[in-house]
Amino acid sequence: MRDGVATASGTIAITRAVSPTLADCELTHIAREPIDLARAVAQHAAYEAALATLGCRVVRAPDAPGCPDAVFIEDTAVVTDEVAVITRPGAASRRGESAAVAALLATWRPVVTLTDPATLDGGDVLVVGRAVFVGLSSRTNREGLQQLGAALAPHGYVVRGVPVAGVLHLKTAATALDDHTVLVNPAWVDPTAFAPLTAIPVDPGEPGAANVVRVGTQVLVAAAFPRTAQRLRDRGYAVTTVPADELAKAEGALTCCSLLLRDTEAVSRGL
Ligand code: GLY
Repeated sequence: MRDGVATASGTIAITRAVSPTLADCELTHIAREPIDLARAVAQHAAYEAALATLGCRVVRAPDAPGCPDAVFIEDTAVVTDEVAVITRPGAASRRGESAAVAALLATWRPVVTLTDPATLDGGDVLVVGRAVFVGLSSRTNREGLQQLGAALAPHGYVVRGVPVAGVLHLKTAATALDDHTVLVNPAWVDPTAFAPLTAIPVDPGEPGAANVVRVGTQVLVAAAFPRTAQRLRDRGYAVTTVPADELAKAEGALTCCSLLLRDTEAVSRGL
């Protein structure tokens, strides 16, 4: 693979605008500091542009200006080729984000909705092939794991719980690079939890680097993590970097800012 070559045509990336209330976001593990809203908006625009450059069709979900964390749309749903599972976010303040996302996803997928007492954030769900790793975190409980498993089992997926502590989500600590490999911060999650997948560790000086977005054969990495980006290039991955440090002050990482789904209609039309 070479940087900037392969694209992900047939992939839809659903995003949502940065809310003007972002400064009131939920925080779990980092200290609150001032957020430059204009800079956050600019970084989000760069992220959407990068997704488009990599071949995604970027679709904006309706704005939710009263929901501070709405930009982190990943937490509202888990989407496979067969179904969209609408989550019940672990933070009560975020539950108003889901309805509009459910209505939009119904364009492409049948929709199943998790119900009380389940809580689950999409940031805790890592799908690699038919294996679904679910972080048991401060946001996602065992009922959430079970309801997600029941929704996905008819389609051949198997869910596996992974304990998460000290960080917000499972995908703060690990994401997939391809169907055989995960990028992991071993200080935050036990790499053996993903066996038999190969686990590549982040650079030890870049603890937040494990959250990357896989777009086809490309990997989107936050610009704050150059040593991990180089580590991936050295292993043959095609890497694109984007700035995301302002959004990180709201405890959001790259995967948080999109829902990626295959445009199965385009695939069936050979597009
Ligand atoms: N601020 C991201 C979240 O807590 O969900």
